[in-house]
Amino acid sequence: MSTYTEDNRKVTTRRLIEMKQRGEKISMLTSYDYTMAKIVDQSGIDCILVGDSASNVMAGNVTTLPMTIDQMIYHAQGVVRGTKRALVVVDMPFGTYQGNSKEALSNAIRIMKETGADCLKLEGGSEIRESIERILTAGIPVIGHLGLTPQSINKFGTYTVRAKDDAEAAKLIEDAKLLEEIGCCGLVLEKIPAKLATQVSKELNIPTIGIGAGNGCDGQVLVVHDMLGMNQGFSPRFLRRYADLHTVMTEAISKYVEDVKSSDFPNDKEQY
Ligand code: KIV
Repeated sequence: MSTYTEDNRKVTTRRLIEMKQRGEKISMLTSYDYTMAKIVDQSGIDCILVGDSASNVMAGNVTTLPMTIDQMIYHAQGVVRGTKRALVVVDMPFGTYQGNSKEALSNAIRIMKETGADCLKLEGGSEIRESIERILTAGIPVIGHLGLTPQSINKFGTYTVRAKDDAEAAKLIEDAKLLEEIGCCGLVLEKIPAKLATQVSKELNIPTIGIGAGNGCDGQVLVVHDMLGMNQGFSPRFLRRYADLHTVMTEAISKYVEDVKSSDFPNDKEQY
């Protein structure tokens, strides 16, 4: 099977920084289970994000807030089992790192120990500095996440583009520099103007990975169900659909129902 990458070495956080240095774009997709992770990994992806978007696409919740640490660990364990090459990044879910930094560290250690993942992702800037610093001191790599941070949706009140005004853009730049300074190995930039994301990407040495943040980022991430077209109700401007699996799956399942009803399935060769 041919894939984009010829390099079969395991992707590490250090290699992400090397990729930025040589101008090689970083590809990232979400996965939440063993079978999908295996397909995504074998297709040559650089990073797999066990996103708390599992709350939306796997559990059918409206926001990511209900996700628990046990649920994230369950999803991440399957993904790690299915992944050989990609760097596996796990989202720390809402409520597990925003308060007490000691609790943040024990939650981070629990995720790393029980899943075997490579890296964690946390949403926010200066407000969660203490938690990030404490997690980093335990040798756990951290990717930051700025811009539209879905765990704060109740504060924003809308999923529209963030940091369009000067004050929010200045705070985002300040937070991005802070995250690099304290030791984060990468930064997800979600739904911000492309011009701002390009500026941040140029000013940082660590790679930026954008979603709805334009082509000036050092890499791109999408939710796998969205880019495969499994999810018909969600079509933001930034989303490119690479397949129409909703149609493929619906047609296949309808045909199966028809074949069972008509006694066409199973036939003589499909039985013992
Ligand atoms: O949870 C998630 O899938 C994410 C991406 C949208 C970046 O955080």
